[in-house]
Amino acid sequence: MDTRGGFSSRLGFILAAAGSAVGLGNIWGFPTQVASNGGGAFVLVYIFLTFLLAYPVLMAELIIGRSAQSNIVTALEKISDSQTSFYPTFTKKISRGVGFWGVLTASLILSFYAIVAGWMIAFALAPIANLLNMPYLADWLTSFSVSRNLLFCILFYLLTISIVQKGVRAGIERWSRRLMPILLLMIIVLIAYVATLEGAMAGWSLYLKPDFSRVFAPELLISAMGQAFFSLSLGVGTMLIYGSYISKKENLPVLGVAVTFVDIGIAILAGLLIIPAMFVAEHNGVEIYTKTGQLLSEDTLLFSVLPALFSSMDLIGYFVAIIFFMLMTIAALTSSISMLEVPVALAVERHNTARKKATWIIGLIIFIVSICIIYNFGALFGLIITITTKYSEPLIGLLLCVFVGWVWRRDLLLKELKQGFNHAETSIFWLIWPFYVRFICPLIITVVFYNSIM
Ligand code: PFF
Repeated sequence: MDTRGGFSSRLGFILAAAGSAVGLGNIWGFPTQVASNGGGAFVLVYIFLTFLLAYPVLMAELIIGRSAQSNIVTALEKISDSQTSFYPTFTKKISRGVGFWGVLTASLILSFYAIVAGWMIAFALAPIANLLNMPYLADWLTSFSVSRNLLFCILFYLLTISIVQKGVRAGIERWSRRLMPILLLMIIVLIAYVATLEGAMAGWSLYLKPDFSRVFAPELLISAMGQAFFSLSLGVGTMLIYGSYISKKENLPVLGVAVTFVDIGIAILAGLLIIPAMFVAEHNGVEIYTKTGQLLSEDTLLFSVLPALFSSMDLIGYFVAIIFFMLMTIAALTSSISMLEVPVALAVERHNTARKKATWIIGLIIFIVSICIIYNFGALFGLIITITTKYSEPLIGLLLCVFVGWVWRRDLLLKELKQGFNHAETSIFWLIWPFYVRFICPLIITVVFYNSIM
């Protein structure tokens, strides 16, 4: 009996995969990078690289997943065994190692992501505390402390676990369907509101007028590529496992394009909100430039510039702040469920563990890692982000390209692609993509990787 479950429809998959892709990386990471990398120039390079590099790797994950109908470890073993691979000597051990590395990376990403997501919940509650005339509580909610970090991290894990334990259709798909439209609506309402405020125009012009002289700056290229990978949730087996839940009737390249467009679209919308908001904040007297004249970014942007903006808006500011941080929480949640699904699917499929039990045990283990980070924040937080997002994700992405480009038999790859896409063999996709993942992607990723180490 097939107990794997799967998405009920095309839209169900698109919303779930887009839910995974759209997260803190889009709404926080992307605008921050735009602010610190020359505005519109970064936007252009990012869009270009997403199609040039991230989309082909996304396709690799979706095709491997749907063909193998399994988690990343089992899937890589399947495509590299003696019947399916050009090089049976490419032993199962290597594929297993790469698979487990992906699972570990997904789990570690969740361990820091859940902490940041917890802050979003706390920041959404702070204005409520203020409205209720409890300034001490509001202060605790918005100040960095072990107790606050722990409490809200637990809360976020409980939300994530309660969705994942329900399975693909009743958990992941249902909640992505509910939350993604709310997210979109909230962003649009906030953009419209911020656009009416004094100062917003300066933000729009920085954002929409690219400074072409910066397009080829090496540090801009590297940041844009890293952002593209993280943003599409690549290199950790998330898209691979979601791919395994897609029906064989669906046309994979088309689905991949849809997810990529939604991801880019929401990032661009988030920029239209955050960048003008920064300039409105400046207009209201909030510091948005550093002493050296650079735009503030990273945590300063989200946790001081925006709250300062909200509090300069009188009563309505409280409600805008609540909506904004709820939006961040929702975006984080549809991403965190996809991270937890990676190890859970492995436990369910390889070790025959019941889904509910697997979800709770694995959730608890990853939470323990989060506790270690919370208690050793200075030493571990940045380190784990760097190891997972800067090194692990691109490297595993590179290896996945090697698997589809060099290891997996080309005829079997085509056979999988043809399901739901009859004319695959004569399509432009088939003309370009196999060559592309075989040579170009590994080359580009190697160059990026080399540059990011140097
Ligand atoms: N794509 C998510 C974001 O942009 O916030 C982050 C992410 C989700 C990374 C899922 C990795 C992952 F497996």
